[in-house]
Amino acid sequence: MKVLGISGSLRQGSHNTALLRAAQRLAPEGFELELYDELELIPPYNEDRDGHSAPAAATRLRELVAGADAVLFATPEYNSSIPGQLKNAVDWASRPPLGSPLAGKPVALLGASSGRGGTALAQQQLREALEFPRAVVLDEPQVLVPEAYLHFDERGELADEGIRAELAELIDTLVHVAGGVTLAA
Ligand code: FNR
Repeated sequence: MKVLGISGSLRQGSHNTALLRAAQRLAPEGFELELYDELELIPPYNEDRDGHSAPAAATRLRELVAGADAVLFATPEYNSSIPGQLKNAVDWASRPPLGSPLAGKPVALLGASSGRGGTALAQQQLREALEFPRAVVLDEPQVLVPEAYLHFDERGELADEGIRAELAELIDTLVHVAGGVTLAA
């Protein structure tokens, strides 16, 4: 099973990207988690530039989403919302409306923030943005990492057994759901 991991953070020491790296290490046999690293290359969505002449980075994102059995998003929370660069990527992947690679795609969400909410607000908004193009977003288990700076070691890697267990449960559920879902063409 191929899963595409998309972190909404562009910074080098991102806790959200570190969560995806931790998920990579927990991956069961036969589960491959590829980390998407081209978020910064995607230009702002412009309907005039979409269609046959869509920017290469947007076309590549669509291809990666289409080729994955499932997508795992790790989102920071910026001002009680999703980072703009992540919403922009979802907007590109949501088109064309009748052929979006997100339609029918199993998706799981997680997130780390420095505040106490642990990205609850951002995850809710990301869920809504993904459900409009008919992605199949898991309801449970929720993985919310509040006060993220407490849960990572000096190398920036996840250092919390409880969160690792939650992550493993999320991956198990995603594998189960993706295995049982007929993906839209
Ligand atoms: C933040 N941060 C933040 N945290 C939070 O809990 N609620 C919030 O609304 C915000 N708002 C916010 C806005 C902006 C512009 C920035 C840059 C940051 C802090 C944020 O959670 C923290 O920087 C995370 O560590 C970002 O995730 P990465 O980059 O570590 O993955």
